[in-house]
Amino acid sequence: MPNLPRQVTRFAAALLATAGAALAAAPSSAPGSRTFTPADKPPPPPPAPSPELVKEGTRVFRGACIGCHGEKGDGQGREGKLLPIPPRDFTVGQFISRSTPSGSLPLDADLFRSIRRGFRPEVGMPPFTFLTDREVWAAISYLKTFSDRWKSEEVPPPVEVPSPPPRTAQRVAEGAKAYKEIGCFQCHGETGRGDGPSAAALLYDNGKPVRTADFTRPQDFKVGSSEREIFRTLTVGMDGTPMPSFAESLTVDQRWNLVYFIKSLGEQK
Ligand code: HEC
Ligand code: HEC
Repeated sequence: MPNLPRQVTRFAAALLATAGAALAAAPSSAPGSRTFTPADKPPPPPPAPSPELVKEGTRVFRGACIGCHGEKGDGQGREGKLLPIPPRDFTVGQFISRSTPSGSLPLDADLFRSIRRGFRPEVGMPPFTFLTDREVWAAISYLKTFSDRWKSEEVPPPVEVPSPPPRTAQRVAEGAKAYKEIGCFQCHGETGRGDGPSAAALLYDNGKPVRTADFTRPQDFKVGSSEREIFRTLTVGMDGTPMPSFAESLTVDQRWNLVYFIKSLGEQK
């Protein structure tokens, strides 16, 4: 499927152009709400929860998300069904990009980041740069109505990401060793390109094939490729995918070694 990424990108772009036009035509609600915080900045504080916000979110969702995530939020949108990677099923209430422990609900800020940043083009989740901050918050408040988890569970505090120790050649070498010994390479491949012996058989919990990022292309990481973000991914895992949490099985030190090894793969020419 050599042209798939380009097809998905073109398809997402067409969908977004329609969505952007529809939303621009709709009246903007609260005054002073037309700010667009970029994904690499911390999101602004969310507006207070209210039925109006959910209603606005319904409009945003219908304009920009429904084609893929579906009317019921179950990922069964008309276009979504055609994508190689299924759009998130919001009725399950499970998310890959979190700063909260394995198995728990994400922070609102995590969802904000995913929506602003999107995931690499072949994944099909586009970056929503044209939505105002308020529209992103509104979409979040609406997508939370699809799963009862948001009613029955508390969102735990984010995991602690300690200050990174100094990066040394020794740490990179230790990381490379751990990468082999722990079996990261089984899925991610010796050189981190996502072509390990188990890679072809890896599935999302819903049975669809999952392909991991190529570690030599940091711009392709879904959850982020900064040192702290990689540390966090190793700590909390990616729910609903084969990527486990290593919070219990690796010490903080071992996780930093692996972070530096993965970073080094992205710096090779
Ligand atoms: C062109 C298709 C498409 C559109 C349009 C789209 N999404 Fe997605 N979205 C996806 C796909 C595919 C995934 C799953 C990515 C994965 O599993 O790696 C996803 C995943 C997500 C996630 C999950 C992030 C996580 O941590 O698991 C959130 C939240 C999300 N989308 C919100 C939205 C919102 C809000 C909108 C509308 C503003 C939207 N999406 C529009 C395709 C789309
Ligand atoms: C059983 C297979 C498996 C093992 C073992 C595994 N991973 Fe993963 N990993 C995955 C999959 C699959 C993904 C991608 C999930 C997705 O994109 O939705 C992933 C994602 C990641 C990411 C996030 C990339 C991004 O897109 O943000 C990092 C970093 C990572 N793995 C590092 C490691 C390290 C380091 C180890 C060993 C300590 C490891 N993984 C072990 C399957 C595995």
